[in-house]
Amino acid sequence: MPNKYIALTDPLYDYLLEQRSDADDSVLEALWAETKNLGEISQMAISHDQASLMTFLVKLIGAKWAVEVGTFTGTSSISIARGLAPGGKLMCFEQDFRWISIARRYWMKAGVQDRIELRLGKAQDLLAHYRPQAPLDFVFIDADKESYDFYYEALLPLMRIGGLIIFDNMLKGGEVIHPTKRNTPANRAIDQLNHKLANDPRVQCVLVTVADGLQLCRKR
Ligand code: DHB
Ligand code: MG
Repeated sequence: MPNKYIALTDPLYDYLLEQRSDADDSVLEALWAETKNLGEISQMAISHDQASLMTFLVKLIGAKWAVEVGTFTGTSSISIARGLAPGGKLMCFEQDFRWISIARRYWMKAGVQDRIELRLGKAQDLLAHYRPQAPLDFVFIDADKESYDFYYEALLPLMRIGGLIIFDNMLKGGEVIHPTKRNTPANRAIDQLNHKLANDPRVQCVLVTVADGLQLCRKR
């Protein structure tokens, strides 16, 4: 097949950021300004085009019950909560209270605080006891990469058929195929999970080149 993809440039990326509904988002912009001040770790925040896509997908499937693993300062949780159907709830798993103290303020600013619940601690321990009040419609996995597969196996049985699970950073900046860097524990874990998902009869998945690569998986 001919190359039907394009390499993004900064100006082209700026263009696509502009050409979205609700591109002017003072809450997410203020949250990004504050998150950026944290330094290098700020790269864990999801981009605003990814946030738009997640709100879009949550709305598209009519999601009411959602889970996120890895909240950081709150951009992804706001984008999920904004898309939920009336009465819907997002359960956030995060282990670092420093990030949550920022996220909480922005949940208020975005007016989604009533739709979000938090479980503070190690997600592997918390998920072992977690039972949602209804089958989950939407899951976002964006925490420590070596535990993605654990989160997947813990949450997939709690999802409804047709539910959507999104994994963040599934291209790892290209390192999944880098001759040497592919062998770090995190990169191997992501690569192994991509292979597993692509061959997993329980889901239908597609790896899209939004942000750092998103695996979109629909439960069959
Ligand atoms: C890292 C983690 C993320 O989830 C992300 O989106 C970007 C970077 C990291 O661990 O460096
Ligand atoms: Mg991420």
